[in-house]
Amino acid sequence: MNVLLIGGGGREHALAWKMAQSSLLDTLYITPGNPGMVRHGRSAEVDLHDPRDLRRFLLDHRISIVVVGPEQPLVDGLHDRIAADPELEGRVTVIGPKRSAARLEGSKDFAKEFMFRHNIPTAAYRTFAKGELKAAQEHLRMIKPPFVIKADGLAGGKGVVITTDEKEARTVLKEMLEGGRFGEAGDCVVIEEFLDGIEVSAFLITDGHAFKMLPAAKDYKRIGDGDTGPNTGGMGAVSPVPFADREFMQKVHDRIAAPTIRGLQKEGIPYQGFLFMGLMNVDGEPYVIEYNVRLGDPEAQVVLPRLRSDLLDLFEGIATNTLSERHVDVDDRTAVAVVLASEGYPGPYKKGMLIEGADTVEEAQVFMAGVEQGPKGLVTDGGRVLAVTCMGKDIEHAITRTYRNVMRIAFNGRYCRTDIGHDLVRSPQQA
Ligand code: AMP
Ligand code: GLY
Repeated sequence: MNVLLIGGGGREHALAWKMAQSSLLDTLYITPGNPGMVRHGRSAEVDLHDPRDLRRFLLDHRISIVVVGPEQPLVDGLHDRIAADPELEGRVTVIGPKRSAARLEGSKDFAKEFMFRHNIPTAAYRTFAKGELKAAQEHLRMIKPPFVIKADGLAGGKGVVITTDEKEARTVLKEMLEGGRFGEAGDCVVIEEFLDGIEVSAFLITDGHAFKMLPAAKDYKRIGDGDTGPNTGGMGAVSPVPFADREFMQKVHDRIAAPTIRGLQKEGIPYQGFLFMGLMNVDGEPYVIEYNVRLGDPEAQVVLPRLRSDLLDLFEGIATNTLSERHVDVDDRTAVAVVLASEGYPGPYKKGMLIEGADTVEEAQVFMAGVEQGPKGLVTDGGRVLAVTCMGKDIEHAITRTYRNVMRIAFNGRYCRTDIGHDLVRSPQQA
């Protein structure tokens, strides 16, 4: 089969790498892609916003599966546009939900209401719209700090403020509801109860009826070692996650994954593709922090290497509504990914630094993200430049291998966390 993959980050590189291993694949096309991904597929010249161009591309290249990596095209209705085109009917399956279901990620308020309707554990909350600043500020008086304030819409992971300072919380509310902080995304805010626990990212794949759990992962969101400094898109990931043990994952399956898929079905909201459940483990009990309608980045760079099954076989299961008959086989080993970033990220950083040594890694995958083709080779072109993933028989081995390979890759201003996975290594007392 021919596949079109949409996106150009590390997650999409991991998807391309995984799909390229499938015996079911004829040709993989990628847009916009990045120059680090070229060995896995061909660059596709297609304007996703032009329905005629998109149709022409899909028909000319006999694409049967469109895999959407990031959330924005889904929230913008890319799946709806393809599904509404009579010439494409029955020919193309989109991996990623339609706009109605993408609201699980695109609107915090929608996600919260959905969870409450279906008794899915999540933090208590109240939503306030533009013009309700006073009520929102008064609400702070009724609840205990820390205050968790979220912009309703997509804000690239930056729309959340957590503070114990009531004055700061009042100011944030004013900036969001009246000052246009986060633009339209902040026109409506959610104030929610603070959940005290450890975060874990859980994933499933679904055809809208059956679903299969995928490996869970831990993401390291802060820029600095020891989880310090500002939030980023993610600086590293580990899978499996020791504290998300069998018992915990069974609760995730029963209390979160199953009621979510059932809830969507009951409400007549079709869903196909990946669902990312951002969870908080509070004393062994899972709560949903957020849904995302895609894989995580850099979680995909550890989840996909652990997936033994053929991803295109699972996608075919979605296309034919037979996911229940497909198998998800997972490698028991541990995968660790470390992101190499440009110094200064998540603030301003320089670009155009030559990346050396990426082809000298051993038993490692290098997933490219913020890179560009320069005259002498790939150069840096983004904050998160690439991720190195290694597998190991246990977490210690995986960490050692990954950092050994990280050391082989050099560019000016190269920055990475040096403690990815360290918190998950069993201390001698626990062993
Ligand atoms: P979100 O964009 O909803 O994923 O939130 C960003 C980050 O804020 C999460 O990854 C959590 O670390 C933190 N967070 C969000 N909601 C809560 C909550 N209710 N309690 C504690 N931390 C939270
Ligand atoms: N790593 C978190 C995310 O992809 O949203």
